[in-house]
Amino acid sequence: MGEVTFENYGKYAKCVENTTAISGRYCIQADAERRIVNDLISKLSIQSSDSLLDIGCNIGTVFIPLSFLVAQATAVDHPDCLARLQERFKGENVRYMAGNFLTLPFNDERYDKILSYSVLHCLRKDDLVPFVEKAISLLAPGGRLLLGDIPNTSLKQRFLDSDEGIRFQEEWNRLCSQNDSTKECKEVVDCKPDPDNAQFDDESVLALTAYIRKLGCSAYILPQNPELPFGHTREDILVIRPR
Ligand SMILES: C[S@@+](CC[C@H](N)C(=O)[O-])C[C@H]1O[C@@H](n2cnc3c(N)ncnc32)[C@H](O)[C@@H]1O
Repeated sequence: MGEVTFENYGKYAKCVENTTAISGRYCIQADAERRIVNDLISKLSIQSSDSLLDIGCNIGTVFIPLSFLVAQATAVDHPDCLARLQERFKGENVRYMAGNFLTLPFNDERYDKILSYSVLHCLRKDDLVPFVEKAISLLAPGGRLLLGDIPNTSLKQRFLDSDEGIRFQEEWNRLCSQNDSTKECKEVVDCKPDPDNAQFDDESVLALTAYIRKLGCSAYILPQNPELPFGHTREDILVIRPR
């Protein structure tokens, strides 16, 4: 079984205590995790009049603070993730849509801002393009979609080959030896990397960006601030639908 599937995140939400681990991050990244929201406000250009859709919101670590800043916020994820989200917070301007985004019905709704953060690598390879096309189809004219926190193996290798990367890896190994923060998740799901999951390198990130442009949208690869949880090894694709 693959380690980052939709179903496994449902199990983590039900059985794992640590909220950073449930969200797919290492506990030692808890401080860095708090920086994500500000980065997203800027990249998505969040406005108080916005309708926001968060696809793969998990238990709301990013979604909850963003929901305070917009007029209306819709949360999409596994039912057990949304149940845990609602234990943490119930917002009056929030709508919860439990289920797999690929099969959820949306009718005529359009959103000013759409976020899918740290989600694309959870998808099956064959689901990647339908997922991105569906997200784009839900954008209002002039709307922005952030396909955020995409793990790029080429970027990671460049970083690990650098002097800074070598120092970072040594410190990372030291911190992880003191606190195996993935232990709680491993106890819930006995998992291993799944070759059928979408994987990204320079070529595929560039190809996805070019594909989105062919669909008629602007698309830009944005760097991450190194102070974000995976800031050295991940990047974002910002999509802007023409008016
Ligand atoms: C690594 S977590 C990131 C959660 C959140 N965006 C964050 O950054 O804190 C990925 C989330 O995407 C959700 N996800 C993956 N595939 C999905 C799909 N097809 N539809 C809805 N949610 C999905 C998973 O259930 C999981 O909660």
